[in-house]
Amino acid sequence: MPQRLITHLRHVDLAVPDLRIQQDFFTSTWGLTAEHTDSGLAFLAAEGSPEQYVVRLREAPDKRIDLISFGAASRTDVDTLAGSLARDGVQLVHEPRDLQTPGGGYGFRFFDNEGRTIEVSSDVAVRRHRPVEAGESIPVRLSHVVVNSADPEGTVAFYEKHLSFALSDTLMHPRMGNMMWFLRTNAWHHSMAIARGPHASLHHASFELRGIDEYMRGTGRLLRRGVEKIWGPGRHMAGNNTFSYFLDPHGNTVEYTTELETVDEDTWHPHLYDFSNPEVSDQWGTANAMNEFVARRSFNDPDKGLFVAPPV
Ligand SMILES: [Fe+2]
Repeated sequence: MPQRLITHLRHVDLAVPDLRIQQDFFTSTWGLTAEHTDSGLAFLAAEGSPEQYVVRLREAPDKRIDLISFGAASRTDVDTLAGSLARDGVQLVHEPRDLQTPGGGYGFRFFDNEGRTIEVSSDVAVRRHRPVEAGESIPVRLSHVVVNSADPEGTVAFYEKHLSFALSDTLMHPRMGNMMWFLRTNAWHHSMAIARGPHASLHHASFELRGIDEYMRGTGRLLRRGVEKIWGPGRHMAGNNTFSYFLDPHGNTVEYTTELETVDEDTWHPHLYDFSNPEVSDQWGTANAMNEFVARRSFNDPDKGLFVAPPV
């Protein structure tokens, strides 16, 4: 396997038609902090995270994933990765350069196999963050991003081959076959996952809370406010993390999670879990049953941003 040059997930950037409503949801309800704003842009931080922001919102007529951003350790690693992608025929949006987004840094963007815009950066200034307190039900960090793919096998292969992601576990169903692949880029069980879906789109973005108590308090706050819950609360087998999935005002699925496991990468062997077994979907048995109607809610609208780089 080529050397892994991606260190971690930084942020997920979304374009939405109504920025005000989306920003209000992600700050007052979801618990992120508006760290920087610009005309038509909002950069939202998680209080416990050193990242400048974990979500960027941009107002645009087309709902889309603007980009998914990953960290690298150094400018040299950014250059090395950009060079190897270009040599392999991956289409770069721009070559490595100094970044103008909050925190600066050095990075480049490219299109993945299905046209998602991906950014890799290093040397971004660390944000002043703080420990999230006991009982404080706000996100500590961005945990993982899951995308729908009409060609999940091809997409998994792309991230393994070009970015050295490693497969942690796979979910399968006796009738539908393999349906979800969990990929890691460090010891966290997954920072990204690929779901089989009808089209490329955001499946969900997941935010880690401090612990079980804070996760349940956060789940309860959203329920009381009448935010539509799709699935949960429960505890997955793959990754051993808890889950509560909600819909944001634009129909993107967002998740509160906690206690995602870390793996020993030297000894880990991927499992193939049959999620028709209820214990696989939810070890606790507290979540509503997963069925095709629930699953369909996270197909999301077809992404309008494939092979179109966002303007910022
Ligand atoms: Fe998740």
